[in-house]
Amino acid sequence: MPAPDSAPKGLNYLASTLAAPVSPAEAALRPLSFSDFTGQLKTVERLKIMVGAAKQRGEALNHILLSGPPGLGKTTLAFILGNELGKAVRVTSGPVIEKAGDLAGLLTNLEEGDILFIDEIHRIPKTVEEYLYSAMEDFRLDIMIDQGPNARSVRLSIPRFTLVGATTRSGLLTAPLRSRFTLQTRLDYYDHATLEGIVQRSCGLLKVELDAGGAAEIATRARGTPRVANNLINFCRDFAQQRATGKITQPVAAAALELLEIDAAGLDEMDKRMLRVMAENYAGRPVGMTTIAVAVGEEAETLEEVHEPYLIQEGYLQRTPQGRILTPKGYAAVGLKAATGGELGSLL
Ligand SMILES: Nc1ncnc2c1ncn2[C@@H]1O[C@H](COP(=O)(O)OP(=O)(O)OP(=O)(O)O)[C@@H](O)[C@H]1O
Ligand SMILES: [Mg+2]
Repeated sequence: MPAPDSAPKGLNYLASTLAAPVSPAEAALRPLSFSDFTGQLKTVERLKIMVGAAKQRGEALNHILLSGPPGLGKTTLAFILGNELGKAVRVTSGPVIEKAGDLAGLLTNLEEGDILFIDEIHRIPKTVEEYLYSAMEDFRLDIMIDQGPNARSVRLSIPRFTLVGATTRSGLLTAPLRSRFTLQTRLDYYDHATLEGIVQRSCGLLKVELDAGGAAEIATRARGTPRVANNLINFCRDFAQQRATGKITQPVAAAALELLEIDAAGLDEMDKRMLRVMAENYAGRPVGMTTIAVAVGEEAETLEEVHEPYLIQEGYLQRTPQGRILTPKGYAAVGLKAATGGELGSLL
């Protein structure tokens, strides 16, 4: 079951940062065109080709599914697609579309070639999802109106639109829905050099003084995520103003981020708590995410969406059919040594 939106975020700074609604400050930093958007080279190349071809043929863009962890640029790319095509982007989200009528309302208000962006598309109710199939394929909706003996089906035709779906959990999407997207593309964590560039761009837009050391320090601790980088910049800027000369240098950024309890590798308190529970309570034995969630006092869904992908990508944890296991790097991150050493080897 997905966690309710009101799930307490507790002390989880990272999760609350990533879950926060888009602030005006974030919107100001959002790239508006492909030329402004760095990184994600494969995805961007695929999108540019599709946009170029659709424009040349004067047709609507095919449906696109963007997946990947929070804060990497899915929403940003949806808006860039609209800008590049010169079409409107209507935004909604899976859980908001409760019934077929809601979907009909959205679709019939679109113009030819417009983009409907459905965020968290994996959370769209199953009953609505079936209507989406014919909308995506045949640009029509067959809706039942009235009940009992008066029940009848009405066919609505809708303009040729483009569905851009975004999901942090592409594994939860049903196969029929997934297969209706012509392009399914996954965003990955950004590498250090790209993030450094993003930090410099954001500081330029915010008119924050920053040197190369400061940019590198923020990039190192931003766990591969532009939204995290932008949030760290905001705190570093305040810190620089209050505790230094206003300029973000390497020592200033390091001290500011220590204060947020984000360590030199970008791990925060919750990441460390997860690793510590696995090391101390399970001695590196496989453990399920629900168990970890109870032990650290956070929703399993939040841990799976926000924390785990980065911990796996960086090699702190591994996923096995028996559960998650801690790697030697995971032990080292919390200042411990791997318990047996044999445990991991025998499972892989
Ligand atoms: N390639 C990029 N270059 C510069 N800034 C970026 C880039 N990608 C994302 N950002 C910044 O990161 C912020 C978060 O991106 P965005 O909202 O698109 O993430 P998302 O993938 O939709 O996240 P969520 O899954 O939480 O909805 C944006 O406001 C933007 O400023
Ligand atoms: Mg988004």
